[in-house]
Amino acid sequence: MKEVTVVIVGAGPSGLATSACLKQNSISHIVLEREDCNASLWRKNAYDRVYLHLAKEFCSLPYMSHPPSAPTFLSKEAFLWYIDEYVARFNINPRYGCCVESAVLCEGEEKWRVEVNNSLLNRREVYEAKFLVVATGENSHAYIPQVPGLDSFEGEIVHSKNYKSGSKYKSKEVLVVGCGNSGMEIAYDLTEWGVNPSILIRSPFHVLNKELVRRGMSMLASNSTFETVDALVLSMAETQYGDLTQYGIYPPKGGPFYLKDLTGRSPVVDVGTIQRIKDGSVKVIRGQIERIENKKVVFENTMEKEFDVIVFATGYRSVANEWLKDYKYVLNVDGWPKNAFPRHWKGERGLYCAGLSKRGLFGVARDAEAIANDINQILNGNVGDTVPAKDDKA
Ligand SMILES: Cc1cc2nc3c(=O)[nH]c(=O)nc-3n(C[C@H](O)[C@H](O)[C@H](O)COP(=O)(O)OP(=O)(O)OC[C@H]3O[C@@H](n4cnc5c(N)ncnc54)[C@H](O)[C@@H]3O)c2cc1C
Ligand SMILES: *[C@@H]1O[C@H](CO)[C@@H](O)[C@H](O)[C@H]1NC(C)=O
Ligand SMILES: *[C@@H]1O[C@H](CO)[C@@H](O)[C@H](O)[C@H]1NC(C)=O
Ligand SMILES: *[C@@H]1O[C@H](CO)[C@@H](O)[C@H](O)[C@H]1NC(C)=O
Repeated sequence: MKEVTVVIVGAGPSGLATSACLKQNSISHIVLEREDCNASLWRKNAYDRVYLHLAKEFCSLPYMSHPPSAPTFLSKEAFLWYIDEYVARFNINPRYGCCVESAVLCEGEEKWRVEVNNSLLNRREVYEAKFLVVATGENSHAYIPQVPGLDSFEGEIVHSKNYKSGSKYKSKEVLVVGCGNSGMEIAYDLTEWGVNPSILIRSPFHVLNKELVRRGMSMLASNSTFETVDALVLSMAETQYGDLTQYGIYPPKGGPFYLKDLTGRSPVVDVGTIQRIKDGSVKVIRGQIERIENKKVVFENTMEKEFDVIVFATGYRSVANEWLKDYKYVLNVDGWPKNAFPRHWKGERGLYCAGLSKRGLFGVARDAEAIANDINQILNGNVGDTVPAKDDKA
């Protein structure tokens, strides 16, 4: 059993950023990572084509901005290069192969007991820490909805998390389920490989592009209201894309930045899919799957079609509650922060969460700084500012 001041769970951008901030304050800590590398989501579970959707000024981690020579929108390789530089600069040494299987508060002792399965050394380890930081990400568990008959499907089923490129699907009939950023971008990627996929669209969404998102975020950063920003970007999007309802794409009520702030749901950042929908190389199917029979997918509008592959771009679930037994001090039953933004990162009894505010890398950096400052203040006896937020109605 080892005693440490802070245990950080996860060596993605959130865990690495929190580590860098703690180092700046000379606070000792360890980072536990279940995979064999840092930033595993980006190295192992992101499709080849992915570029950051947010401009580089909104995607840097604390104490290290992207160089002026970096492109405005970074590729996966460029972002991983940045991460490698970051890890090296702050001399962060995550313990790889260390999956946290349980974390409990030792009542009376005000300590967190963290149990780890170290698969590299093939042994169990126990750590005790005054502070525990949950940095296991919003994308830890791939979610596939329970569709009747899914087990009978004779083709291939893949979640967007494991989709790399369309190269292996040439001349296949592919159905993409889900119309968030992953689903829309995967549909585009498939057309680049000569596949004409169908995309199932169920909910309304806004369509913007990277430049409009960048413009909106800059305006918000200089204190424009959601109303002003949304009105401007929507009118520019309308000029660019025209009326999309004829293609089965309907906008939700409420503007894109307002809804992002309120619900965390992002607008679709178009990478060229809209043009492919307009020219017919991506086919829109509206509604839901009613059932699957062998190769056949039956939709609720009674249409049916045979597919070889179904790509589920149906998002993720937070599963931190499975190992964080005393999650109630920071998360709700669904595994998301129980406190409202901007105090979501701070739990009680030395428990924190980083990177769960649905605000991308921008939110990650803010959380890491706030957590390190808070721990620093507590360790230095200045607890005046550390009373937990009262708004834990969730
Ligand atoms: C395809 C895709 C595109 C994206 N594009 C953007 C973008 O353009 N801009 C942006 O800002 N954000 C983007 N994101 C959001 C992305 O979530 C963040 O960029 C960032 O990766 C979040 O970092 P994180 O450290 O919070 O989570 P992750 O990167 O998910 O890291 C969490 C880490 O915790 C580890 N872990 C989980 N459970 C355990 C456990 N029990 N024990 C030990 N370790 C554990 C995981 O292995 C993982 O390495 C994108 C996400 C995806 C999937
Ligand atoms: C981060 O991960 C990359 C890829 O596995 C590796 O090359 C690098 O050494 C890692 N950095 C540290 C400090 O572990
Ligand atoms: C640890 O994890 C590995 C890989 O997931 C698994 O095979 C092994 O059974 C686990 N060991 C223990 C002691 O739980
Ligand atoms: C926005 O408002 C905040 C708080 O009112 C202020 O501190 C900040 O300087 C403003 N930023 C700009 C760019 O006007």
